[in-house]
This record gives sequence, structure tokens and C-alpha cells, in this order.
Amino acid sequence: MQVINTIAGIKELKRNLKGTVGFVPTMGYLHAGHIALVKQAKAENDISAVSIFVNPTQFGPKEDFKTYPRDINRDLAMLEPYTDIVFIPADKEMYPAGYNTWVEVNEITDVLEGAVRPGHFKGVTTVVNKLFNIVQPDKAYFGQKDAQQAAVIKKMARDLNMPLEVVVCPTIREPDGLAMSSRNTYLTPEMRKGAPVLYQSLQKAKAMIEAGEKTVADIRREMTSMIIKETLATIEYISFADNETLKEIHTIKPPVLISMAVKFGKTRLIDNIVIK
Ligand code: PAF
Repeated sequence: MQVINTIAGIKELKRNLKGTVGFVPTMGYLHAGHIALVKQAKAENDISAVSIFVNPTQFGPKEDFKTYPRDINRDLAMLEPYTDIVFIPADKEMYPAGYNTWVEVNEITDVLEGAVRPGHFKGVTTVVNKLFNIVQPDKAYFGQKDAQQAAVIKKMARDLNMPLEVVVCPTIREPDGLAMSSRNTYLTPEMRKGAPVLYQSLQKAKAMIEAGEKTVADIRREMTSMIIKETLATIEYISFADNETLKEIHTIKPPVLISMAVKFGKTRLIDNIVIK
């Protein structure tokens, strides 16, 4: 495994490499969800590459950029068995003085996470575009847990004719159903105990739809009443949307993306399922 900190270093390395590259961009503090992406990248390509970069431009002024968990040595130990190249740039390498170019996907970034976190996706698409240009992968891997991010990146790649395939991989969950996330580490033991309610409410929605329920308002009411039983949980949104356009729907017509953001204290958890 080669660890590289500069863009010039990656370009130099790539000049001498032959074979397809599978790439997993991350912000580090890795968990089993990231490792599943890296394993898939390794299985489907000759070379697997991972970036670790906590991207300042995708955090709002009141968000957790400074406190975002970081542990490079632990990350490197987890990556070692599956990764050929790790790119860990400094902030100034990615955004040198005078940096002022942005990549934006319109419309599908205005809803859900984009509505609550203005500017977030502009930071994501800009950094992912830069990372794609630097690493030049054949395939790039993202988790379904960040469903909107995956849809936005797919759209960016399609709209800008990027010469790569965006692969979206299933959400990896803890045994009690909580979707794995680096931010789970912020939860107190009591919050952690209540956090599986997100997935439980999604499962409830799925069961209602499978039993023939079609009215979104009725399903949302059931989900809400389940979640508010967890006294530490505050619902930010529960959305039923077309899985591609992310436009809200009122009657179930698959494929439907059911997604939610729920706060436990200051920690925002997101989760989703797709009803096919
Ligand atoms: O999902 C993430 O960890 C980040 O949004 C990403 C894709 C690495 C861009 O910074």
C-alpha cells in the first residue's frame, strides 16, 4: 500500500501503473461500510485507490468540520489488506490560495439534505470532481446510505460525460439495524440505544407498502409515531420521493426512496431504503 500526500505524487504513480482503478473517496474515520466499498473496488479492478480528505467546503459554518473524527493511523491499518493507493492531501493541496472554481448540480440538490444543508452538495461535487481528475478512476464507489449524494454524483458524472462508472453499494448496518456512519461515534450510550428506530421505522414503512398501503401521509404518520417514542429523537424530515428525480410523492409508485434525517442531540443521523 502506497500512501501519497500530493497531487503530483498521484500523477507520477499513475504514469507507471497499468490496469483499471477502482476508487473510494472518503473523509476517513473508516468503518465496515467504507471497507465494503474498498473490497468491492479491489474485487472489480486491478488497482484499488482510497482518498482520505475531510473536505472543508461541504461543511456549513455551524457544522462539525473542526470536530469531525479523524484517526489516520487506524484508517491506514484498516485499509492495508485491501488497498493499493491511499491519497491523503492537505487542505492547501486541494484548495490552494485563490481557489475559486465550483461544480454544481442543480435542482436535485435543493431538496432533502440540500434543503437543510445549503451549499453542502456544491462542496461535495466540487471535491469529488477534483478527486476524479486527480485519481482518474475507471469506477468510483459510493454508499447507498448517502442516497442523495449518490444520485447527485451519478447525475454529475452523466451530465459532464465523465469517463468512469459510478457504482452505488448497499448500506452496511450494525446488528441492530443502525446504518454505519463515522458520526455514530458522537452518540451517547443512551442515544445509541434509541438510534435503531430510524431503520425500524423504515422497515415499518416497507411492511405497510407490502401490505398494500399506498397513501404516503398514513405511512409517514405511523413512522413519526414510532420515532417520537424515542424521547431523545427529533425528526428533521421523513421523505417519500421518486428514486431518480428526488421529487416528493404522495401516493406510492415504486421505485420510491424513503429517506429521513433524525437528530439525537446535536447529532444528525440519516438513513433510507428504496422500495423497488
Ligand atoms: O461521503 C463522503 O464521505 C464525502 O461526502 C465524500 C464523497 C468523500 C466527499 O468529500
